[in-house]
Amino acid sequence: MRDSEADKARSLVERARRLVVLTGAGVSADSGVPTFRGEGGLWKRHRPEELATPGAFDRDPRLVWEWYAWRRERVLACEPNPAHHALADWCRRRPETCLVTQNVDGLHARAAEAVGAVDGRLVELHGSLFRVRCTACAYRAAHTDPVDATALDRLPRCPDCGALLRPAVVWFGEPLDGGALAEAFASASGADVCLVVGTSAVVHPAASIPLATLASGGIVVEVNPDATALTPRSEVSLRGRAALLLPGILRRTR
Ligand code: OAD
Repeated sequence: MRDSEADKARSLVERARRLVVLTGAGVSADSGVPTFRGEGGLWKRHRPEELATPGAFDRDPRLVWEWYAWRRERVLACEPNPAHHALADWCRRRPETCLVTQNVDGLHARAAEAVGAVDGRLVELHGSLFRVRCTACAYRAAHTDPVDATALDRLPRCPDCGALLRPAVVWFGEPLDGGALAEAFASASGADVCLVVGTSAVVHPAASIPLATLASGGIVVEVNPDATALTPRSEVSLRGRAALLLPGILRRTR
């Protein structure tokens, strides 16, 4: 990467009137959280339809919970990296920024807590590994206790109605939360710069968020070690790891 490109990215982001940020699994890769489609990615080793669909949970809730309990443990053993911290610090200084993530790992929220930032403008588009919802009633809650998925009768149950609880993440074939989606698209349409970090930009509707910024006359700045479908439409596309590049792009200059 040429320095001038990094400088250009920094200047575009710094001068943004309104910034929206879209992150994907790549932003957590430097924390040790596996991505989905890259080398060693989760969807290379596991079949989504066996683990991340409503049908999979109906067929074998214990197996699905076992997978999510493993992912929770894996993430809890990881720490936010300099990319999460740089974004959290930026959002504290520029609270009008909307940070939209496809990640369910909770690392943006942990980084925000570390700098005392309010995570009100953090949109977790695909839900969170650390929340649950009831399969039968409207119960939803934060849930960080370890889950014992060794047997069906040990799985977590709803305190209100007794039905099985499930991870509050979006599975294939399920709609995204309407409120989260509306906030993400409103922010993207109102932004003059969309910073896109560590996503293959193939899963919609999340992948359409930068397109909403482009459609309203804004620009896209991308950070990714590899080219993506979004690269040709980006004003600047920086090749490299988020943990190395974001602290420079988002550094405090005033
Ligand atoms: P992917 O695994 O599809 O893409 C990860 C992206 O991160 C790739 O473009 C990598 O090149 C890039 N990457 C890898 N290491 C990086 C690093 N150190 N710094 C920056 N970028 C890096 O993950 P997502 O695009 O997030 O959905 O996947 C989108 C959705 O697909 C996920 O939210 C999940 C999955 O199915 C659901 O589960 C609903």
